[in-house]
Amino acid sequence: MSTTYRSVAWNLNKRRYDTIALGAIAGFLAVAIGVQAFLRPELTIETLLIRALGATAFTLLNVILCIGPLARLDRRFLPLLYNRRHLGVMMFTLALGHGLFSIVQFHAVGTLNPLVSVLVSNDRYGTIAQLPFQPFGLAALGILFLMAATSHDFWLHNLTAPVWKALHMCVYVAYTLIVAHVIFGVLQQEVSPWLGWSLSGAVLTVFTLHLAAARRESAADRENRNSNGDGFVDVCGVDEIPEKRAVVTCVSGERVAVFRYDGRISALSNVCQHQNGPLGEGRIVNGCVVCPWHGYEYQPATGASPAPFTEKIPTFDVRVQGGRVLVHPQPHAPGTRVEPAHVAEARTA
Ligand code: HEM
Ligand code: FES
Repeated sequence: MSTTYRSVAWNLNKRRYDTIALGAIAGFLAVAIGVQAFLRPELTIETLLIRALGATAFTLLNVILCIGPLARLDRRFLPLLYNRRHLGVMMFTLALGHGLFSIVQFHAVGTLNPLVSVLVSNDRYGTIAQLPFQPFGLAALGILFLMAATSHDFWLHNLTAPVWKALHMCVYVAYTLIVAHVIFGVLQQEVSPWLGWSLSGAVLTVFTLHLAAARRESAADRENRNSNGDGFVDVCGVDEIPEKRAVVTCVSGERVAVFRYDGRISALSNVCQHQNGPLGEGRIVNGCVVCPWHGYEYQPATGASPAPFTEKIPTFDVRVQGGRVLVHPQPHAPGTRVEPAHVAEARTA
């Protein structure tokens, strides 16, 4: 967390993450160039580079899109989520290299503006087999640029989280455009069948993982209707909440994380202010709930980040009765202090 905007708040984990990512990208690029050069010795170095950069960017985009659902399905993938935005910027840089080399190679020597040339040099828009595929790539690159340019927390705070999130959902539009770019490109180029197979495999993997994660999420969004008559809903037994961890329930259409810590119980919104991370999957460290995605912290009784930070999330009334944890579905304004319930009440009730 940071109260001011530095270009990047580097730490050892981020450096390690980026070093591994850059190493993997360099390795993939080298293999992609080497294999093509071996199989097709007649290809020029420019063509090799264009293809390898395009293939690496697309592969990385698939990896980026799989990280979200994988982290929802299995906590062991959470560390990959931590610095995913850097992967996005790396992917955009590769895609930009691919686009620029393509424009220089195919569109820079004529009399037309190279960008106009991408759109009009092939005008067979009425066909399927010859449909211009490069405009799809150009449109995708425009979207990826917008996303890379606004990836920093400065934009997240200034655009507000919902606008930023909506903007970054456009990655799926870019993905669709790139899939179209590659499909229509493959129809027109002499490329090996592995490209078609890897494309289908990649799209199927992304789709299946999103479907599996959506099914898991929709189960978590099932409304808790165990009302006890005075407006509170029954969440679980006290002993079902592991120490310094939470049980998540859904009340009034909102996910609520009910934490147990040091003999107390507090209920707060499950949604992190940063990028909607699932706070209920985090744990309490040094008295604060720590978001499992990028480490934002909140005090469990107030929902407010410790000073000097200013993030706040809604809190909920909570009660312990007969060994059961009860939560009131009406949220308090973000940052409102709510007296924690005491686990001891469960033993005496
Ligand atoms: C200005 C934007 C773009 C232009 C002008 C462009 C142009 C091209 C061209 C000419 C090819 C065929 C290369 C060949 O077979 O010799 C190609 C293929 C490809 N492009 Fe793009 N592209 C653009 C954007 C993108 C973006 C944003 C991505 C993905 C992130 C992408 C991914 C690919 C892939 C995966 C291939 C197939 C590579 C292969 O044959 O192994 N392109 N593109
Ligand atoms: S989503 Fe980034 S810290 Fe919570």
